Amino acid sequence: MLDTVQDADVIDQGAFFACKVTEVEHFTDDLFRFRTARPATLRFRPGEFLMIGLEGEKKPILRAYSVASPSWDDTLEFYSIKVEDGALTSRLRNIQPGDRVLVGRKPTGTLVTDALKPGKRLYMLSTGTGAAPFASLIREPGVYEQFDEVVFTHTCRTSPELTYSRGLVEALKTDPLVGEAAAGRLVYFDSVTREDGPRKGRITTLIETGELFEMIERPVLNPETDRVMICGSMAMLEELKAMLEARGFEEGSNAKPGDFVVEKAFAGEGV
Ligand code: FAD
Ligand code: A2P
Repeated sequence: MLDTVQDADVIDQGAFFACKVTEVEHFTDDLFRFRTARPATLRFRPGEFLMIGLEGEKKPILRAYSVASPSWDDTLEFYSIKVEDGALTSRLRNIQPGDRVLVGRKPTGTLVTDALKPGKRLYMLSTGTGAAPFASLIREPGVYEQFDEVVFTHTCRTSPELTYSRGLVEALKTDPLVGEAAAGRLVYFDSVTREDGPRKGRITTLIETGELFEMIERPVLNPETDRVMICGSMAMLEELKAMLEARGFEEGSNAKPGDFVVEKAFAGEGV
């Protein structure tokens, strides 16, 4: 029997694709991930974000979301916050397989390797849902061709909030496409700030004191060898940016590659 348009995994609506949800996994009361069918024509660079959303009463409700899946994957993955009264996520949190999510056609962003000069070690520093773009990048074989080592850090308030990144790194070990490239070259470091744990503290503090480098057994940050991508709250970005600039790192962009790039994980109040 032929599929009708209604049954299609992806419906091209012009400005957006309406993509069928294929999988949903909740981690905490505030965090979940989901997958959708991928439009065959949608191309993106790992680390980029898209506008996604749901149909509203009068117009669609759309928000920026990092694509968390790698560029070779035939589905799209997103990692999401659940904001209690959030216009989008108060509804998005209830999606089920078979529902449809609107996906924009114009990926964009600065957390791309094109915006970085060549280097030896790539640091990806994240807090909260800022891990999402790095979920794409660590699963991308090309990243391991460009850099000898990849250091992915994720800091959250409590350890259940690290479930997504921990699971990704664990799954990579047996991934048939990327597992071998990442073996021994992906260094994962997590820390918590509001409960006790073996690795406790904000990433800013751990870099400033040098504890991060002691724990991962790598030299301290050096613009000669290291490149850095940062994704988190505005306050986290601003502090890390100042710290890197004080160490001689220059910010890069798509137009002018540099030593580090930043992107906010969400637009907070007043930003
Ligand atoms: P909103 O009205 O958009 O937000 C309400 C408030 O909730 C905000 O003022 C802020 O204080 C807080 N908030 C919103 N998003 C977050 C968050 N992610 N973490 C912590 N607090 C938050 N969100 C994701 O969940 N995953 C992503 O991959 C993602 N990528 C983004 C990429 C970019 C470039 C930008 C600018 C934002 C991104 N966001 C992401 C945030 C996202 O666009 C929405 O803000 C979020 O989905 C909440 O939407 P909302 O309509 O429910 O609430
Ligand atoms: P803390 O618990 O000390 O505030 P949030 O949920 O508020 O987005 O925070 C996510 C993580 O980012 C938390 O572990 C939080 O630590 C940390 N964080 C918040 N602000 C900063 C900052 N300015 N620099 C570094 N880390 C930060």
